[in-house]
Amino acid sequence: MSKAELYVELSKINEKDAERVLKKCAEIVEWREDCAVLDIGCGPGNVTHNVIVPALPKAALIVGIDKQLAVVDYANAKYATNEPRIKFEAVDVVSDGGFVANHREDFHHIFSFYCLQFVRELELALRNIYTMLKPGGSFAFICSVHNDFFSIMSHMAKMEKWTPHISQYENYLYPYESSPHPDEEIRSLLLKVGFQVMDLTMDPQHCKMPFADASEFVVCRVPFELPGEIQREFVLESADAIRSLKLNEVDENGTEFFNYKLTALECLAVKPPLL
Ligand SMILES: C[S@@+](CC[C@H](N)C(=O)[O-])C[C@H]1O[C@@H](n2cnc3c(N)ncnc32)[C@H](O)[C@@H]1O
Repeated sequence: MSKAELYVELSKINEKDAERVLKKCAEIVEWREDCAVLDIGCGPGNVTHNVIVPALPKAALIVGIDKQLAVVDYANAKYATNEPRIKFEAVDVVSDGGFVANHREDFHHIFSFYCLQFVRELELALRNIYTMLKPGGSFAFICSVHNDFFSIMSHMAKMEKWTPHISQYENYLYPYESSPHPDEEIRSLLLKVGFQVMDLTMDPQHCKMPFADASEFVVCRVPFELPGEIQREFVLESADAIRSLKLNEVDENGTEFFNYKLTALECLAVKPPLL
């Protein structure tokens, strides 16, 4: 199975979270009938297609962007061929200045689900998002903090064997992962960029999954390409890392689980309307 297929298979929780945030947004934001929408860090496109499209008016046009070409190709093949309202493009929200310049004040609504925790240059990303929003437009996102995924990456990055492959994982980690008050830091950053913050909450989450799924759950979330044979070994060895970090649990029947914890930071912000 490709990384994109694995992700779709193992990301039902992400779909539920996005659904909840869209419902909450609909209580505050009025969708325009023909709204232009951007989904940043769309991954393989399942959240864009299964959650964002059904929540918006029928005439909405949605662009999903992701910096990994393989997931964008998968998303286009699987979700965009028979759905003229969606298209997916390979774009890095931090460094693709051309995309940002071509889409200045283009979008009524921007979403980003579980992407921004991978963005080291968060301020630049938020400035780009602000630039692409229409005045009065909304930006809703979820990102994680205190995520076990990063403890596993950090544990493996210290192992000699894995250092050459994943030591750069910190380049894909935003500055607030271990901050004691990430909500306040992100609120300040949003205000500095010019957003009005309508809602910002933190929701601790705990997911207990069969241990057999644990390593693939981790590997399909790695936000950069690992070569095929390395990926297979990574899957096997991340299981050892999960056990060393005691993120596993064996119940009274001898069944092993992966206890995965993170805190979801959910936010709705708007770009002030023109006076
Ligand atoms: C965990 S996946 C989330 C996918 C989907 N939004 C969901 O909720 O299931 C995070 C995605 O963000 C993408 N990503 C990370 N940094 C990015 C950046 N700077 N620009 C665009 N996409 C980025 C990764 O490539 C990855 O596909």
